[in-house]
Amino acid sequence: MITDIDRAAEIIHNAKSLIALTGAGISTESGIPDFRSAEGLWQKYDPAEYGTIQAFHANPEKVWRMLFDMVDLARNARPNPGHTALSELEKMNILKCIITQNIDNLHQEAGSVNVIEYHGNVSRLECLQCGTRYGDGDMDIGTIASGRVPPRCTRCGVILKPTVIFFGETIPRDAMDRSNSAAQSADAVLVVGTSAVVYPAAGIPLIAKQNRAVIIEFNIEATDLTRYGTDIFIQGKSGTTLPEIVRRIKSS
Ligand code: APR
Repeated sequence: MITDIDRAAEIIHNAKSLIALTGAGISTESGIPDFRSAEGLWQKYDPAEYGTIQAFHANPEKVWRMLFDMVDLARNARPNPGHTALSELEKMNILKCIITQNIDNLHQEAGSVNVIEYHGNVSRLECLQCGTRYGDGDMDIGTIASGRVPPRCTRCGVILKPTVIFFGETIPRDAMDRSNSAAQSADAVLVVGTSAVVYPAAGIPLIAKQNRAVIIEFNIEATDLTRYGTDIFIQGKSGTTLPEIVRRIKSS
């Protein structure tokens, strides 16, 4: 009897232009909570008070308290077998790119190269006053988080903002264009560990589906996407299900 994971492995192995969209769920097995599950970050920090660009403008010191927590969690985390499986699929020249909503850098640490950071990156900072941008070399986000003092612009003294995308901000043009282009040419999309409720990221699988791509969703529970977009739903922890896909491809 052909199981869903058999079908998924065969489609993935034969895909000509496979992409992945990942969310916080792929990193929970690395010790980083997601946002909307029972233990998620939004249970501890109200997104209306901490997750919007308006909240950051109103009280950057307060929002930085949440950001320090997120940086600490990411800094102490290591890639899990789910990240490693996607990196292996890229090395096998099967997976063309990962579009991630995550800011934890774990795909890169797992060895994935073609990673589109759709919601930005917490280790790069920008001054909303004078526009100065700071990269990894200028200010180490880990050191900043240890000191628990919001970083300030060396030019104008204003508290800096990490280049993560808050609610109310637009997706960086480059990330948006590259992601839409990848989705339009995909023949299969892995949707891993996302509740698929935040747009425009959640629209990426649908762009691909409009071009007849197969949507294969990996999640521990059904989502809205499962009901209206997913073709094959693989239920389980992605740290288990993704390596199983790779194992089947390698043994086929
Ligand atoms: N394996 C597979 N799926 C998992 C696992 C796991 N080990 N752990 C959790 N999940 C699933 C949850 O069931 C849920 O559907 O991952 C999903 C996580 O959903 P969210 O917490 O909503 O995270 P995400 O979809 O990434 O949120 C999108 O919302 O708050 C904003 O900017 C933030 O990028 C984030 C965006």
